[in-house]
Amino acid sequence: MAAPYTLRWGILATGWIAEVFTKDLLADPALRGVHDVRHEVVAAASSSSKDRAADFLAKVKAPSTAKAYGSYHELVADPDVDIIYVATPHSHHFQNAMLALEAGKHVLCEKALTVTAAQARKLIETARAKGLFFMEAVWTRYFPLSIQVRNLIKSGAIGTVYRTTADLSLGNDAGDGKVKFDDAHRMVNPALAGGALLDLGIYSLTWVFQTLYHLQPEGEKESPITIAAVTKYHTGADEATSIIVNFPRHKSQGIATTSLRVSTDPDGQNTAGPAIRIQGSEGEIQVMGPAYSPLQYRVIRRDSPGKVEVVDCPIPKDPITGWGQGMFWEADECARCLRDGRKESETLPWEESVVIMEVMEQALRQGGVEYPELITTDVYDPQSPLNTGKR
Ligand SMILES: NC(=O)c1ccc[n+]([C@@H]2O[C@H](COP(=O)([O-])OP(=O)(O)OC[C@H]3O[C@@H](n4cnc5c(N)ncnc54)[C@H](OP(=O)(O)O)[C@@H]3O)[C@@H](O)[C@H]2O)c1
Repeated sequence: MAAPYTLRWGILATGWIAEVFTKDLLADPALRGVHDVRHEVVAAASSSSKDRAADFLAKVKAPSTAKAYGSYHELVADPDVDIIYVATPHSHHFQNAMLALEAGKHVLCEKALTVTAAQARKLIETARAKGLFFMEAVWTRYFPLSIQVRNLIKSGAIGTVYRTTADLSLGNDAGDGKVKFDDAHRMVNPALAGGALLDLGIYSLTWVFQTLYHLQPEGEKESPITIAAVTKYHTGADEATSIIVNFPRHKSQGIATTSLRVSTDPDGQNTAGPAIRIQGSEGEIQVMGPAYSPLQYRVIRRDSPGKVEVVDCPIPKDPITGWGQGMFWEADECARCLRDGRKESETLPWEESVVIMEVMEQALRQGGVEYPELITTDVYDPQSPLNTGKR
């Protein structure tokens, strides 16, 4: 058997998701049955200090050879790094991903890809011009569960899909008119592109898009008409957003909802039912939440009354550490794309990321949500405080 292709990663930011993702990178690929690619964590950078980056590397148990940097500029200049994982708040994604692309690095950038669609287009133009790989880190699309659901739809198992409804709402009502996030927290702070839609609602849209838009044949792709209801939090960010997307030529509709106050799954046991319903002419696929990391789907067919096919798709865990979150599958996709010379993933093409950003931008505009110029500009500035960390 040929030696596995090795992808060498640089981790840009040291927060929560950087930790989860990096630990998944370090998980043995064999435990998920993967033998053709592997990952190396070469370096990590913190915008605040080298010590913070070193602490991060120690916490995730990276190899002792991994380098710690006290600035994002140093990380993207490291010749040993092939690809940068951008794990800053969404406010920073455009500037940080540009910094990496301009330094000649491939990029995997956390969701939401950017704050505006124009920023997403600029990043893609840059990746294209420089011949670099670029992908939005919507990990859910690479779950075996998502692949199975898309294949089932393609096989006609539930007929023609006409409607998908999807919710991701985490129930953080504080009971005093506020939600359980400090006003400065990135979930509600407009300076960090806070709000339910860009953080959570994007997963509801992921299900709408991967079951409706993504499966529209090439040449027949139809950007949707977007209608939104937005409730603004006192900080100015959205605390609840409901979006209807309409694809009139395909006679299909999607309803994507998100809220910081109510919960998709109030008792944590899926008693409230599926988070996602994919409805076709011959049946329905129900996906149990959470929408970002679902572990079970059910198929109900019109020709089998009263029967439900239940399919569990657990995430493989390391038997010793118990670790494994399912983020490794998107990392494997990056490695395979680079190995095969592909600049974008077929599972989430550039153009689809842009259409989703357009939908979110339109929804937020309809709701009167505005973000500051520093984080909405599509003019790249290597010395932006978003790149230098000067707050
Ligand atoms: N895929 C998923 O399931 C998932 C889950 C959670 C979050 N996310 C996405 O990942 C991104 C980061 O989320 P997170 O929960 O990891 O956030 P977090 O814990 O707040 O970490 C963000 C990191 O970004 C860096 N940073 C630079 N400037 C910052 C600033 N002004 N304010 C705050 N942080 C700053 C910091 O690391 P330095 O030490 O480098 O400065 C910080 O630790 C978001 O875009 C979010 O949507 C994805």
